[in-house]
Amino acid sequence: MSHIPGTRDEQHRPTRTSDVLVIGGGIIGLVTAWRTAQRGLRTTVVDPAPGGGAAQVAAGMLAAVTELHYGEETLLALNLASAHRYPDFAGELEEASGQSVGYRACGTLAVALDADDRAHLRELHALQTRSGLESQWLSGRECRRLEPMLAPGVRGGLRVDGDHQVDPRRLASALVTACERAGVTFCRDWAERLTVHRDRAVGAELRTGGKLSAEQVVLAGGSLSGRLGGVPAEVLPPVRPVKGQVLRLTVPPSHAPFLSRTVRAVVRGSHVYLVPRESGELVVGATSEELGWDTTVTAGGVYELLRDAHELVPGITELPLTETRAGLRPCSPDNAPLLGPTTLPGLQLATGHHRNGVLLTPVTGDALATSLTCGVLPDEARPFTPRRFSPLSQEQPV
Ligand code: GLY
Repeated sequence: MSHIPGTRDEQHRPTRTSDVLVIGGGIIGLVTAWRTAQRGLRTTVVDPAPGGGAAQVAAGMLAAVTELHYGEETLLALNLASAHRYPDFAGELEEASGQSVGYRACGTLAVALDADDRAHLRELHALQTRSGLESQWLSGRECRRLEPMLAPGVRGGLRVDGDHQVDPRRLASALVTACERAGVTFCRDWAERLTVHRDRAVGAELRTGGKLSAEQVVLAGGSLSGRLGGVPAEVLPPVRPVKGQVLRLTVPPSHAPFLSRTVRAVVRGSHVYLVPRESGELVVGATSEELGWDTTVTAGGVYELLRDAHELVPGITELPLTETRAGLRPCSPDNAPLLGPTTLPGLQLATGHHRNGVLLTPVTGDALATSLTCGVLPDEARPFTPRRFSPLSQEQPV
């Protein structure tokens, strides 16, 4: 997916063939490959560093309820379907890989720091209630009783016991192992171009030369999905990168328990969240910046996150700051993923998950495996067909 030309030595590199070629080895590509291989298809993943990508930065909130937005009711149904699958998915993946994925059914508390924040949360609560979601309004005092480290100025909050977390780095690592054990082949290289023969996707050319061929190709390249060469313009996914800067702090045993659940707020219009892991890691995120391919960690980004997190939980200034990192969310025009067949035969998409990639991992794997083996998307994934963005289609965006 890079634009840097690679060397070609095709005479000496035979084409390797599979039933399914997945372009992109982030968590979405990996779960697609794992679920597909489990159904008996010979599956290859092409990626220079499988298990990398946005999952190395993401906090791993499974926030179907607290990240609900107006106009995204269809997406909510998919998010909830995936959230409900998480306990079984995590258990099955842990058994298949022999590794923990850090799934933690800890719940979330969304709090307000001033009158504007409280009005915003009241609106969110009304929307959640109308959508039939469980969410309980708490006074500031009740919030602090749950989480004593919260600032005294907290004015109220929403207790959402169904929004949990997983550790995306562990998730990615477990998926790599599960794929290996399920017989997935890894090609550690960049896919440079999609190969199209007689109006059908039939494989990919690699940056270092050589080709991979397959009956079906899945493009799961995260924010890079729109940059793969050789994809006809009308099929190229309309995915753009949205930068998120994230901090990692460490809670020493002497300060534990610091927070028992995810705590989040909207401070002066920006989302801030603190996600406490059992290991003592405390993830603070995230900025949301439309800056193209830039992944620089900036003083301003770190400052804003620390300032907002400090307003919420003043005690964080005592914790060691162990990591700062920026990643790119793959964002589509309607904030929802693109799943399943395109108008180019042989090419399916699994991309555009924006803020919900970790949450949507289980349902994406199931949807793509069904689509690749049976030729149809399951009901819950049908509204997310890439064809909704096709100029030739009558289907409307979600
Ligand atoms: N879902 C959290 C984020 O995208 O920052």
